[in-house]
Amino acid sequence: MRSALSPSVPALVTGASSGIGEAMARALAGRGHHVVAVARRRDRLQALAAEMAPSGGLIEPMVADLGTEAGMSAVAERLQDGRAWVLVNNAGFGSRGRFTELDATREVDEVLLNVVALHRLTAAALPGCVAHGTGGVLNVASTAAFQPVPYMATYGATKAFVLHFTEALAVELAGSGVRVTVLCPGATRTEFGEVAGNVRQIEMAMPMGPVRVAASALRAFDRNQTICIPGAANAVGAYSVRLVPRSVVRRVVAPLFKPR
Ligand SMILES: NC(=O)c1ccc[n+]([C@@H]2O[C@H](COP(=O)([O-])OP(=O)(O)OC[C@H]3O[C@@H](n4cnc5c(N)ncnc54)[C@H](OP(=O)(O)O)[C@@H]3O)[C@@H](O)[C@H]2O)c1
Repeated sequence: MRSALSPSVPALVTGASSGIGEAMARALAGRGHHVVAVARRRDRLQALAAEMAPSGGLIEPMVADLGTEAGMSAVAERLQDGRAWVLVNNAGFGSRGRFTELDATREVDEVLLNVVALHRLTAAALPGCVAHGTGGVLNVASTAAFQPVPYMATYGATKAFVLHFTEALAVELAGSGVRVTVLCPGATRTEFGEVAGNVRQIEMAMPMGPVRVAASALRAFDRNQTICIPGAANAVGAYSVRLVPRSVVRRVVAPLFKPR
């Protein structure tokens, strides 16, 4: 498989109201897919749909809070229509600080969105993909997935789940015609830093733009490449942790995220 999917396969992008998800929704609509764009901010989704419409890009806003049972069920139901879909599980957020001092409810919300919703939607989308031998899942993890991240402990662990889960699915679905890719971006200039409280770390890491990240991800998805790490420096960083003892990696990463 080394080509873009037929635009007749519909796409659903979570977290399409900003950042990487918005760029992904634009790119998929630009390729001719009907894109269901999911997020909580209705005004952003409507503005995106209106902006893409004159050039023929079909974006359908779907307002849902994927941190809630009602939101997850509504989006899962949309994917269970017997068709093959391109599912981009992109919605996610991070939180920075000492775990014992962070808001425990918000930490659980982070697991619900970054892990439970992603898992649930993947389960909803894949049967239709397998039945038709096309479509697939593009899950968004992070370079944070490759090592523990002290002071962003929940975030790093959720992304490790996404990486391992998606890699395993890629093996199970090999040869089925269904594409499975996990995108592991490094620092990217989006609203993520404001939400997570790590704008300074992102700026120091020379962030990439979301359009470039989304383009890399779709190229990898076209090739059915399992892991996509945009940017050579990010790839070197992500894989180099395997050459160093874990105890050293933990100690090196901690000061990068430790709040002052
Ligand atoms: N930026 C980075 O440096 C970076 C690096 C590695 C990985 N990532 C990953 O990339 C993905 C996209 O993040 P981004 O950088 O593009 O950040 P972003 O600009 O903050 O976008 C996050 C998106 O997720 C949506 N979202 C948040 N909570 C939601 C909820 N409960 N239900 C539904 N949608 C929700 C937001 O929309 P609403 O607020 O409208 O709901 C928004 O569209 C995330 O999974 C993130 O972990 C980012």
